Amino acid sequence: MAKILITGGAGFIGTHLAERLCGLASWEITLFDNFRRDSLKFAPQLSQNRRVNIVNGNVEDPVAIAEALSEVDVVVHLAAIAGVSSYYAEPLRTLQTNILGTVNVLEQAAKAGIGSFVYFSTSEVYGSDALWVDENRPCGIGPVAESRWVYATSKLAGENFVLRYADKYGFGCTIIRPFNIYGPRQVGEGAVSNFCRAVAARQAMQVYGDGSAIRAWCYIDDLVDAVIAAIDRISQEERVFNIGNPKEVVTTLSLARMMASLDSHAKIEHREGVHSEVRARVPSIDLARRMLKFEPKVSLPQGLEKTLAWFKQHGQN
Ligand SMILES: NC(=O)c1ccc[n+]([C@@H]2O[C@H](COP(=O)([O-])OP(=O)(O)OC[C@H]3O[C@@H](n4cnc5c(N)ncnc54)[C@H](O)[C@@H]3O)[C@@H](O)[C@H]2O)c1
Repeated sequence: MAKILITGGAGFIGTHLAERLCGLASWEITLFDNFRRDSLKFAPQLSQNRRVNIVNGNVEDPVAIAEALSEVDVVVHLAAIAGVSSYYAEPLRTLQTNILGTVNVLEQAAKAGIGSFVYFSTSEVYGSDALWVDENRPCGIGPVAESRWVYATSKLAGENFVLRYADKYGFGCTIIRPFNIYGPRQVGEGAVSNFCRAVAARQAMQVYGDGSAIRAWCYIDDLVDAVIAAIDRISQEERVFNIGNPKEVVTTLSLARMMASLDSHAKIEHREGVHSEVRARVPSIDLARRMLKFEPKVSLPQGLEKTLAWFKQHGQN
């Protein structure tokens, strides 16, 4: 049986990935997380599974990471501080966790002799206007004076470290740039999870600015398909992939209206924009289609219905 370490494994994406891996007989799974966020409490089946070990630790702690890496074959590095409000409230922590944590995990992974490393970056590395971007588009983020960009900066630094460590120490690596993933158990912020929480609590959905920002929305199960395809892959050929659903492109206002069509009590409230806005984020996924056989299957109406049902069942969390 192969061993996999998922840092940030108690989070939204980590718990969905772990659930899928539990369905494949070949994996022993360690979920490593400091429980800054906790989606795991909504997935008791994972805590009860004998093939899942849960470690409460910080990715910046070399001893804790080295212990968790014992006999590990594959690392999926998800642990990060994400969410626009934290870039303003905790810019330094965001940089430290996302850069120093990543370097620490890579350093210990290299020492442990792992086989491959899957790194979660972000579509934000493309900056404010990212329409139908492919992986070769130069990364261009906003002014360094604006703390809005600390997250993108940290993820871009992380990508660089992953590629250079992989080259120097000879392990395989895949970098995933996710574009707006949503679904059940997303306890962090994001337009879909924020809208679902509001509708479930019978409060108004708040649309900031004129609601014209454009996003492509990808359901969590589709993202997990791509990660499973990436996990075993050790290739020097192509290592950076956009993952998202370019078939489901809407403005934030249209998204709110779609949500409103699912619940007769739902209301939309317009608010002045508070943060500098990323205007458009839509991926080209041709490379992932070709190399990972990735094809998103869940439509936005289907995904929103499932996600809203989950939030209604679990309250505001
Ligand atoms: N969800 C998306 O749409 C999206 C988009 C782009 C990139 N990503 C990236 O994917 C990864 C997973 O995202 P998610 O949506 O599951 O977020 P999440 O916040 O639910 O998961 C991240 C997990 O990391 C943990 N964590 C934070 N700091 C830690 C530390 N110092 N030590 C150990 N654990 C720590 C948190 O407790 C949390 O459980 C992140 O790296 C994120 O930046 C997500």
